[in-house]
Amino acid sequence: MMHVTLRQLQAFEAVARLRSFSRAAEEMHVTQPTVSKQIRLLHEQVGLPLLEQLGKKVFLTEAGEKLHVTCADWLDTWGRFEQTIADLKGLKQGRLKISTVTTAKYFMPRILGPFCAEYPGIDISLEVINRTRLLERLARNEDDLYVMGVPPEGLDIESEAFMDNPLVVLAPANHRLVGRKSIPFSELAKENFLARERGSGTRMTTERVFQDRKTELRIKMDLGSNEAIKQAVAGGLGLALLSSSTLNLDPAQTELAILDVEGFPIMRSWYVVRSKGKQLSVVAATFQDFLRTHVQLFMPRP
Ligand code: PGA
Repeated sequence: MMHVTLRQLQAFEAVARLRSFSRAAEEMHVTQPTVSKQIRLLHEQVGLPLLEQLGKKVFLTEAGEKLHVTCADWLDTWGRFEQTIADLKGLKQGRLKISTVTTAKYFMPRILGPFCAEYPGIDISLEVINRTRLLERLARNEDDLYVMGVPPEGLDIESEAFMDNPLVVLAPANHRLVGRKSIPFSELAKENFLARERGSGTRMTTERVFQDRKTELRIKMDLGSNEAIKQAVAGGLGLALLSSSTLNLDPAQTELAILDVEGFPIMRSWYVVRSKGKQLSVVAATFQDFLRTHVQLFMPRP
């Protein structure tokens, strides 16, 4: 019988997932030698090498791959057990892990304030990443809930729309099309566009909108954030399709205008998503309920 500890398995799982001792140490809030020691003790118990390090790169051996799968399942089961105990000890205690796409960062933190005030016993971790990275986390079952604009097709998920997510055409306030009514979409073919990085949901939607309308999309520049795009639009580098959620409460907004293009705003929704098989903890279910009933807290201002 091997003598392994939860700590050792956690350290191994983090190194295997992040492929880095230093990032694992950072995530676990311990020093790198502590992580190395945990892995060494685990290695001694298993009796086979688990990791190989070439330069700075960490690779898993075959035994390491097998252990990684086992660890991930086991830690997930353990996490559920801890959550059940927290639920039993007193409702509304424990941890809530949410991943949200970058474009939802304009409103998600706003709901967390009142939520934490109502349930001070709940610790929250909020990951803010683009759509592709969020889907990776969803596939690895890393969080309780996911917030995104375009839920993936073909995955075993449950999604629920909770708020409007209109897509608008943004231009600098002094652009020639500002103030014109019902601009034909074909006018946009003459314009340069600023687009989010590949992997972003906004980028995917922008490309789709142009494809569906059989119109050429001239991308002048890729930018890694909505903020950078808004600044670039304000600076006259081009137009952009963005979620109107990105415009809330932004003082720089006077430099930007929303164009009245035919068919726009494209009405879409924000969704809260979870894996179908995943049993929601009381905490996660409480949050989802809170989201449904407090949407007005982060609705765009009229
Ligand atoms: P993004 O996602 O922040 O990756 O662009 C937006 C969306 O899912 O609509």
